[in-house]
Amino acid sequence: MSKIVIDADDAAFSLKKVLVAHLQSKGIEVEDLDYNGIKPDATYPEVGYNLALKVQAEHLDRAILICGTGLGMAMIANKVEGVYAGVCHDVYSAERLRASNNAQVLCMGARVVGEELAKTIVDAWLKAEYQGGRSAPKVEIMRDLEKESFKK
Ligand code: RB5
Repeated sequence: MSKIVIDADDAAFSLKKVLVAHLQSKGIEVEDLDYNGIKPDATYPEVGYNLALKVQAEHLDRAILICGTGLGMAMIANKVEGVYAGVCHDVYSAERLRASNNAQVLCMGARVVGEELAKTIVDAWLKAEYQGGRSAPKVEIMRDLEKESFKK
């Protein structure tokens, strides 16, 4: 398992710490980008953008972004070309995010899920791998449309 990068805004600071400890307890290397440590007043778009740029630049495979709802983090991460993010508050969606959609960034809301559910969602997401197959042409179409959109 390659390194996982993680970050959160102020609404999800505590959950981020819980998830970092959870991943480390599984022997997974985690890098907490802690953008609020660099820019204390950074809001969720800035925190999410900073992480998404790193995913793009380093071709990272997996990252986690958490805020109050997960929504704002997913919205900003998806604005970075080549970065795909989705909000998952259930195990099935977390599996599909990876297996069907081949997204790199799992987003969750600390005001939506409890710590134990968040850990279970992360575990399901970690177990899932992109399946290709019938999902592949759809993912390719998404990439093609994204290129069109970024050209404008
Ligand atoms: C708080 O700033 C809240 O709006 C944020 O954490 C997140 O839920 C946005 O989507």
